[in-house]
This record gives sequence, C-alpha cells and structure tokens, in this order.
Amino acid sequence: MSRFPEDFIWGAATAAYQIEGAAREDGRGESIWDRFSHTEGNVYNNDNGDVACDHYHRWEQDIQLMADLGLGAYRFSISWSRVIPDGDGEINHSGLDFYDRLVDGLLERGIEPHATLYHWDLPQRLEDGGGWPVRATADAFARYAQVVADRLSDRLASMATLNEPWVAANHGYEIGTHAPGRANLGEALAASHHLLLAHGQAVRAIRDAAPGLATGIVLNFEPKHPASDDELDHSLADVEHARYNMWYLGPVAGRGYPQSGVEASGWDMAEVLDGDLDTISQPIDFLGVNYYSRGVVRHPHATAVPTTTVGPRRTGFNWEVYPEGLGEILRFVHSTEVTDTIYITENGAAFPDAGDDLDDQPRIDFLRDHLQVIHEAIEDGVPVKGYLVWSLLDNFEWAAGYSQRFGIVKVDFDTLERLPRRSARWYSEVARTGLLT
Ligand code: FCB
Repeated sequence: MSRFPEDFIWGAATAAYQIEGAAREDGRGESIWDRFSHTEGNVYNNDNGDVACDHYHRWEQDIQLMADLGLGAYRFSISWSRVIPDGDGEINHSGLDFYDRLVDGLLERGIEPHATLYHWDLPQRLEDGGGWPVRATADAFARYAQVVADRLSDRLASMATLNEPWVAANHGYEIGTHAPGRANLGEALAASHHLLLAHGQAVRAIRDAAPGLATGIVLNFEPKHPASDDELDHSLADVEHARYNMWYLGPVAGRGYPQSGVEASGWDMAEVLDGDLDTISQPIDFLGVNYYSRGVVRHPHATAVPTTTVGPRRTGFNWEVYPEGLGEILRFVHSTEVTDTIYITENGAAFPDAGDDLDDQPRIDFLRDHLQVIHEAIEDGVPVKGYLVWSLLDNFEWAAGYSQRFGIVKVDFDTLERLPRRSARWYSEVARTGLLT
C-alpha cells in the first residue's frame, strides 16, 4: 500500500476544443481546428468538435460530477477564439463570462481551477496571417494571456501558457496530421521558436497582471530507448531525445536549444533574435508533465539484433504501456532543475469499450501502475505535487475523432449522457484517501 502526501492534488484534465462544442455560439471565432476538422479527410470519420461533449452547455453537470467523485482540481483550457475571436482584436466578453462562471462554479465545489491558455486551437485569423511560423503570433498570445489574467487570475490556482508545443509544431507544421495541416520542416522550426517566445512573453504579461499567480508550461515527454546496442540506434535515440524531450525544456530551463537536435534539423536559428532566450527562460512556478508512453528507436541501417522491443501491453492507440518510463522522465526533468514543482498534467489511456460495459479494468491497471511509479519518484525526492488524469470525459481526440476513448467517464455521443466507468469510482477512492492499494 502506498500513501501519497496529505497535500497531493488529485484531479482531472480536459481541453477546450475537445469538449466544449458550441463552436459558433456567443461570438466565438473560428479556430484552426474548426477549419481543419471541417476539411474532408483530415480527421477520422470526418468528425469535428462542433458539439463534442457539449460541455459549454453542460459544464455544471460536469463539474458536479467531479465534485461527486471527490476530485480537488480541474485542468481545463481556454479557447483563444472564444475570448478574442480574431486572435488580436476585439475582446468577446461573453466568451470570458463562460470561463468566469466555470471558475466560480469550481470554487463553490471546492475544486481548484488550473487553466491552460493554449491547447492547440489557434484563432484561424492568426493562421491566415502566417500562424506560429510568424513572430507576431507570439505578441498576440502575450496580449491574450494578459486579457485572461486580468479577468481570472484572482481565482485561478495556476495558469499554464502552452500545452505540448512539441505536438503543435511537429504535428501541425512538420508532418501536417494536426491543424493547420502544413508539412514543412522550416516552418515547424520557426513555429517551435515562436511558441516558446509566446510562452516567455506570456509569463511576463501574466506576472505584470497577476504577480502572485502560479505560472508554468505543460510539456510532453517520452524516453527514447535504442532498440539495440548498435551505435546507429544509440545516436538516433540521442537525437530524438534532444528533439523531443529537450527542445522545449532546454530553452525554458535556461540551457538553450540542444545542439545535437539543432544540427540534426539543419536549423540556422535565424528566428532566434537577441534577448529571445532570456525571455523564454524566465523562472516558472511549475512544470506540467504529460506522459503516455516511450519510444523504442531503430535506425534504418542498424544491423545489431534488437534487444529492446515494444512490449505486449498496448492501449487503443497501440501505444506501449510503459509505466517505468514515467519514473525515468520525472528523474530526468528534476535533474534539469527547471522548477521545484511538478504536476502530472496528463496521463491516461484509451481503451475500446467492451460493448456497453463500464468495467474498464485495463484503464484501472494503467492508472495504478503509473501512480505507483509516481509514488516511488516522490519518495526519491522528485517534487511531484499533483496528478490530473487524462481525461475526465471521452472527447474529440484530434485526428482520431471520437474513435479513441480516454475518459474515466464515458460519453454516449448520441445522447451526450455521462456514464462514469469503474475507473472513475476507483480513482475517486484513491483521490479521497490518498492511498494506492
Ligand atoms: C495529448 C494531448 C491531449 C490528448 C492526449 C491523449 O498529447 O495534450 O489533448 O489528446 O494527448
């Protein structure tokens, strides 16, 4: 039996475009995910987030559900184009009112509100002006951060600038499987720098508007393990580690871009202007760690027989279930001394439902195994202060549409009914007692 610290925060996470719906209501502007998902062939089954979980109308029911489960924290994201429809022009006050009501509703129920400003839904008008490859997008983001901080900071528990900028730049601009669907390495590198710059400028804007608000960033990590002892596998794994795990953490932690990743990408760093790295590396109050799996890296010309292979436990996405990797990542992140407060801002798994069955034992096993690893890391002195399961609800899983179910609460997308799975009851018990058995 493992006992978590008294003050450990237990919660659940979601993101605006994945759950809100109400895509054209109360003045919300178009985002790149509206445009992308409405373009034939981009998303599984041509699904989109027009309705999603209809959380925009059902938010009270959803937060009551969390209160009933005894959760103490909720990580949600704010839709930029709901607040500033064209990204850098007029403020849409009814958009801000929605988040205002949500935050008050959470506090009334004793749930800490943890907001994320950018979970991939760039206003389409900013994309039309060049999107993240363009420097001005970072300025627009800093202003948006300040607008939100002015309105909500007196009641938020924390504010994260970006969610997983690696995915935003890589999937959105390098390989094009996410919005806005561009596939150009040069643009992706420029996007990655402007995302980081946006983070740094936003941290400044938030500190000006709300000096006491805990401010940070959410990054995704996965260990990159060489498949064999072959030198080629080892060096490729090192490069992947640089390009995936260090690309964002390095600059934020004041260590700059990883040299091996810069070289492997052939980046001339023309976008990096004097002072940018100082802007990006301001101290943060917390780092959000998102963890799902590891990568086993095989170079196409390697000849040594693989000794490390992807294990048999897989999720619905066919991702390997590899809890040990979270321990490895936590120790690695801690070693960079980037912060003394780490939250697990996402961790969870998609599994197909067995018919109407709400008995999701594989998800319970997944959560238990990862929580066990977190507990060991805490015992070793890694300052993990909270856990936000991904996700509260089944939702619009980006390019996979509604085909992948991550919720501890099932959503019937015909009726929009919420049906807590057994994992929700199990997690509720862990959250209430702080005990993992
Ligand atoms: C993360 C995203 C989140 C969700 C999970 C499964 O990369 O931040 O929105 O899609 O993966």
